[in-house]
Amino acid sequence: MLTLNYQNAGLRPHELEAVRPLVGAAFRTLADRTGLGREMLGWHDLPDAYDREEFARIQRAAKKIQQQSEVLVAIGIGGSYLGARAGLEFVKGPFGNRLRQGDGVEVYFAGSNLSPDYTQDILDIIGDRDFSVNVISKSGTTTEPAAAFRIFKAKLEEKYGKAGARERIYATTDAKKGALRGLAEAEGYETFVVPDNIGGRFSCLSAVGLLPMAAGGMEIERVMQGCADACARYREPELLENDAMLYAALRFILYTRGKTVEILASYEPALTMFGEWYKQLMAESEGKEHKGLFPVSANFTTDLHSIGQFIQDGSRTMFETVLWVKNARHAVAVPHDPANVDGLNFASGMDLQQMNEKAMLGTLLAHVDGGAPNLVLTIERRDDYAFGELVYFFWKSLAVSGYLLGVNPFDQPGVEAYKKNMFALLGKPGYEGAKAALEERLKAL
Ligand code: PA5
Repeated sequence: MLTLNYQNAGLRPHELEAVRPLVGAAFRTLADRTGLGREMLGWHDLPDAYDREEFARIQRAAKKIQQQSEVLVAIGIGGSYLGARAGLEFVKGPFGNRLRQGDGVEVYFAGSNLSPDYTQDILDIIGDRDFSVNVISKSGTTTEPAAAFRIFKAKLEEKYGKAGARERIYATTDAKKGALRGLAEAEGYETFVVPDNIGGRFSCLSAVGLLPMAAGGMEIERVMQGCADACARYREPELLENDAMLYAALRFILYTRGKTVEILASYEPALTMFGEWYKQLMAESEGKEHKGLFPVSANFTTDLHSIGQFIQDGSRTMFETVLWVKNARHAVAVPHDPANVDGLNFASGMDLQQMNEKAMLGTLLAHVDGGAPNLVLTIERRDDYAFGELVYFFWKSLAVSGYLLGVNPFDQPGVEAYKKNMFALLGKPGYEGAKAALEERLKAL
């Protein structure tokens, strides 16, 4: 079970009591569905409410992908991408596509950037092998996935013909409207739903994330069980008995003390993409009206050799939340070397996880001494269950945090600004006026 340790947060004795009424009010606003963005709370009781029939269909589609293909290309961006990739790397590790445990296919993520080199690399990795595509877009008109879908759809149709491609394309999109819904119905693709009451960054335990995760070999029933157990646990209204609420309270206290940056640090490379998922969840939900904690993710010990200096000794604006995985899957010991030229014989026979833990504890104390408060979230192990549990923990905390800040945690109006400029500069119809004004500004650069 996930646990939260805040002994090193540097709290003064009265601080939790001081925010208790505010946190309680934010928690009730969420539970009673009376706050800003309340129409987007489909994630809140997801384990009770999700569509069981669609879940079974996701499992069947994943099996079909595994029977027909060696590779799945999952196409999407932002909320339509990050959760599935975070889940697969969390469980399968960063080399999951090479190690191929169980029935899972290799999963590559396209449509999350506009890089021709990245896209061509995926085409080269597929080579002559059989592949399927899951295109994931609520709107169907998001530039990056729309461009990638055209490219991979063309490759599928060239390889298998239109009818064969139809058997290998899965569209996850709006239930009724939007460009992709229309295209999928016209072409006869199997479709899955991005629910209307769940925003992109809360969607990874809907079909959006579940199909790529299942095709890649994750046990999605275990993911949902972890989510369900966390959902039940974090309904507890007593602040000190509810770690999700407590985490929100601690972040708020640290924020009001001028700690405006939160670093989510893990000591496990398999959690790198989880850090990317966390950054979207926090930044898109809280970063509004010139408020919010800026989320950063780091992977230690790697990043101790890059940003470690700053965390120890730079401007004192950050605190650290360590996401610690207690049990490694493998025991790998440091061999003894009689020559001892590197001076490492003090660690001969020591397991790497033991060294990792000492590094974590030593770093924690050093950073606290340097003025960076520390919270520690511990999970027992990296598995499907823990992924579902963690996802729900962060959803719930973040929603309480957003209400504490007084913002709507469920919209993302700021994301539109870059899109408008990009559409104008690309010459999309309807943006002609904006295009002229932008080009004038660009001349001055
Ligand atoms: O969280 C969000 O809402 C965004 O990150 C979207 O998921 C992202 O922009 C993709 O949108 P769509 O699914 O419409 O292609």
